[in-house]
Amino acid sequence: MKNKRGCFISIEGIEGVGKTTAVHFIRDSLDAAGISYVVTREPGGTPIAEAIRTVLLNHYSERMCPDTELLLMFAGRAQNIAQVILPALQRGQWVLSDRFTDASFAYQGGGRGVNVGHILELAKWVQGDLQPNMTILLDAPADVGLSRVKSRGAKDRIETEGVEFFERVRQTYLQLAKREAQRFKIINSNQYLANVKQEIISLIEPLLEKQ
Ligand code: TMP
Repeated sequence: MKNKRGCFISIEGIEGVGKTTAVHFIRDSLDAAGISYVVTREPGGTPIAEAIRTVLLNHYSERMCPDTELLLMFAGRAQNIAQVILPALQRGQWVLSDRFTDASFAYQGGGRGVNVGHILELAKWVQGDLQPNMTILLDAPADVGLSRVKSRGAKDRIETEGVEFFERVRQTYLQLAKREAQRFKIINSNQYLANVKQEIISLIEPLLEKQ
């Protein structure tokens, strides 16, 4: 039997919008449908990429240059693609990724102001034509997301940015979604969780039918 390539889904949004919960909802749907999948995250997803994540999110006595941040994000991504994402898709498994390249456009491009040309070049180099089949963007105002982060305890280096930073990140995500309306599905995460769940299920179900 021909091994059909798996479906690649990424989940995006600013901090505190409920990406982890969304991943759980998708997992439940895939489990119920008997679909084999792997879950990964960025930055991270492999031992080396998780080590890069630690470098990225630690606090330091110096400022991390935006270019350093961007390059490290893509270094981790190269590892995650080679070790986790491509092998899984080639085996016919689905891949759920908690963030992917759109986060670099939103955070490093929109948030930090890094030249978008550099991000495009890195994306072309590191991922070639690999793109998620669907990207679920969980959207909420930055102050709503940040208030949820506050209740989680100690903040990592990026989480210590202010509300203006996260609002720029959010607006960049929304622009990306507008530009690639086919791939992106926006869900308002500032509503009852049961509604978010229902919306996620209604996005996943048509994909299951194609399997
Ligand atoms: P997480 O909180 O979703 O685990 O992600 C860790 C942080 O990394 C989060 O603040 C978003 C940030 N990030 C970027 O700035 N650029 C990227 O390309 C990725 C994947 C994440």
